[in-house]
Amino acid sequence: MKALVLAGGSGTRLRPITHTSAKQLVPVANKPVLFYGLEAIAAAGITEIGIVVGDTQAEIEAAVGDGSDLGLQVTYLRQQAPLGLAHAVLIARDYLGEDDFVMYLGDNFIVGGIGDVVGRFTSDRPDAQIMLTQVGDPRQFGVAELDADGRVVGLEEKPAEPKSDLALVGVYLFTPLVHRAVAELKPSWRGELEITDAIQWLIERGHRVESSVISGYWKDTGNVTDMLEVNRLVLESLETRLEGRVDDVSELIGRVVVEPGAVVERSRIVGPAIIGAGARIVDSYVGPFTSIAADCVVDGSEIEYSIVLPRSSISGVSRIEASLIGHDVEVTPAPNTPRAHRLVLGDHSKVQISS
Ligand code: TTP
Repeated sequence: MKALVLAGGSGTRLRPITHTSAKQLVPVANKPVLFYGLEAIAAAGITEIGIVVGDTQAEIEAAVGDGSDLGLQVTYLRQQAPLGLAHAVLIARDYLGEDDFVMYLGDNFIVGGIGDVVGRFTSDRPDAQIMLTQVGDPRQFGVAELDADGRVVGLEEKPAEPKSDLALVGVYLFTPLVHRAVAELKPSWRGELEITDAIQWLIERGHRVESSVISGYWKDTGNVTDMLEVNRLVLESLETRLEGRVDDVSELIGRVVVEPGAVVERSRIVGPAIIGAGARIVDSYVGPFTSIAADCVVDGSEIEYSIVLPRSSISGVSRIEASLIGHDVEVTPAPNTPRAHRLVLGDHSKVQISS
């Protein structure tokens, strides 16, 4: 069995971060979200992984390499444009050959791993198997309709009138039969080859599509709110580790990780929070559910419930919360101009200013 991990896409919902970076590499508790998926695949006993990449190929390759650190053999598969999840299967046709495979969306976060569902698939071997979870507002998701026996009878992408509250989680298991479905697909109204259409093709021709409803936590980290929630969840299970330098007047409360080479001076950190390698926290407050990445500087500032990517600096800012800050960003107060804001903002930025 192989794995196909999707790490291309356009990431419009995470702009402007995705103008310059891969969304799958946004860190959760200072580890790229993609790595949680790769670890889950390795833990399920799968070693051969094809990673579908797009414009951010170089960055993904630099982060994952050949996969040997995770015990994996990685092959990169270039998708020329993000033409849909089923298009990713189409371009992976030769790599996948006649093997069964698990398809894993590289920006999805699942607690509890995939060992159980992979085990069930290999012993039952239906034609395809999907994972579902109950959601509050199914209209934003791919939604499944099940019969009385739990077999999948239909799928719809973001339906206006959902037939159930069971949303598709970003992990799918396929036999090579799916290639026949994918080869016959036509682009949907949004111009993409939809994986839901491929599964629907299997159902309509009487093939067996099974589902497992998972109760564990699942989030598609495609937007900022979900990203911050996943970060909170992972930090909840953080264990204290102090490998950097914390001066005597600083106060660390609750579970805090200070990575090697990080420095905390005259500051208060209320966990769970993680301070990355080489970061400097000076005269500041870092509140719960905050991940500060490597080589950042937080000076004379307050921040909580936020993610800061590497090498950014926040100086003299009274309070930042519920924020996702990219890498190499500078945040400073305006110099004595209380009635005016001076801004340099990338395309598609979202900024909330108290006025
Ligand atoms: P999505 O989040 O559904 O799509 P997207 O990345 O284009 O994002 P947005 O909706 O914000 O514009 O993609 C799920 C995962 O699959 C994600 O890791 C990107 C990846 N992907 C591909 O690799 N190729 C594709 O053609 C598509 C559509 C997605």
